[in-house]
Amino acid sequence: ESYDMGGHDTYMHKEIAEQADAVDRVLRGRIDERFATVHLGGLNLDAREARRMRRVKILGCGSAYHAGMIGAQMIEELARVPADAEPASEFRYRNAVVDPDTLYIAVSQSGETYDTLAAVQELKRKGARVLGVVNVVGSAIARETDGGVYVHAGPEVCVVSTKCFTNTAVAFALLALHLGRIRDLSVADGKRIIEGLRRLPGQIDEIMRAEDDIKKLAADYAEAKSMMFVGRVRGYPVAREASLKLKEVSYIHAEAYPASELKHGPLALIEPAVPTVAILPDDELLDKNRATLEEIKARSGKILAVAHQEQEKADHTIVVPRNEVELDPVLMGIPLQLLAYHTALALGRDIDKPRNLAKSVTVE
Ligand code: AGP
Repeated sequence: ESYDMGGHDTYMHKEIAEQADAVDRVLRGRIDERFATVHLGGLNLDAREARRMRRVKILGCGSAYHAGMIGAQMIEELARVPADAEPASEFRYRNAVVDPDTLYIAVSQSGETYDTLAAVQELKRKGARVLGVVNVVGSAIARETDGGVYVHAGPEVCVVSTKCFTNTAVAFALLALHLGRIRDLSVADGKRIIEGLRRLPGQIDEIMRAEDDIKKLAADYAEAKSMMFVGRVRGYPVAREASLKLKEVSYIHAEAYPASELKHGPLALIEPAVPTVAILPDDELLDKNRATLEEIKARSGKILAVAHQEQEKADHTIVVPRNEVELDPVLMGIPLQLLAYHTALALGRDIDKPRNLAKSVTVE
C-alpha cells in the first residue's frame, strides 16, 4: 500500500478503512483446507517442538501488548497450552525466570521498539526460543528472533495503531490454529476457525458501513470527562485497547477494567459524566456481562455496548456481526477505533500526531 492519503483526511482514517484488505493479506496463501490448518512459512518451529512446549509467554508494548493479550487467549483456547502476555517493558527489568520449555513471542508493529528488542536480547542471551509477530519486514526484532509470523498490515503511518493491531490479532489466530492442529484441536474445529477467518474481511466492511452512526455517538461521548471500558475474558483486551485508543487520540481520560473487577473498586467512579463502554461477546459470559450493565445503570451510568444484538440496559449499542467466539476480539475493537477517531475529530485534536507521542519508541 502507498503512503498516499487516498482521499482520506488523516492517516488514521485511511488505516482504519484499509482493514478489510489488510486482513485479507495476512490470510492470503496461508490457509490449508485439506488439513484444516495454516502454513506459516517463517515460523521455524517444528511439530515436535510445538508439542513439547509447556507455556507461551508473549511480550510487547502498548497496542502490541494488547494484541498479545488476545493472542495468549487464542493460543490457550485453541492449542490448550498455558499462555499469557506481559508488557515487554516490565519483563526486561524484573529478572524473569527463563524457562527452557516456554516459547517466547515478541510482538511489534515497527520491530524497533527498544523495550521489546531489549527483552528479546535478554531472552536470547539466556538461551530461550523467541519468535516474532512483527509488521515491518527485516526490522531489528524480526532479525533478532528465531522465526515468526509477519503481520502484513502494510505501512502504518499514524502514531495510533489501528490496522496493525487488528492484523496482529488475526496473525495470532493463525498461530493459535496452527499450534492447535499440531496439538489437540479437531479437524472440525479447525474448519470452523478457518471459515470464521474467511468471513472477517466482509464483516469488517459491514462495520465500516456503520461509521455515520458511530460518528453521531462520538459527538455525544466527546463531552465525557472520563470513560470506563469493561469486558470479561475475550472482551477485556478489547476494552484495554479501546481505552488506549481513546486516550491517545482524544486526550479524554479512560480506564479499562475486567468487568468482574468493577465491584471491587472502580464502581465508585460511575456517574452520569463517566460513561462506560462495555464489550459483550455472545459467549458463555453474556449473562454475567448483562448483570454488569445493570450494576452500572443502578449508579446512573451511561452505557455504550458493543455486542451482537441490541442491549436493553445500554443507552446505545453498536451491533457487530457474529463470527466464531474465538475471533470476536478481532471484530469488536474496530467500531471503537472509529469511536476514538470521531471523538478526537469532534474535539479538534491533531489525529495523526497526538501530543507527546512518537510512532515507535526506539530509546530507553
Ligand atoms: C499504539 O497506538 C501506540 N502508539 C503504542 O502503544 C505502540 O503500540 C507501542 O509503542 C508499540 O509499538 P510497536 O508495535 O512498534 O512495538
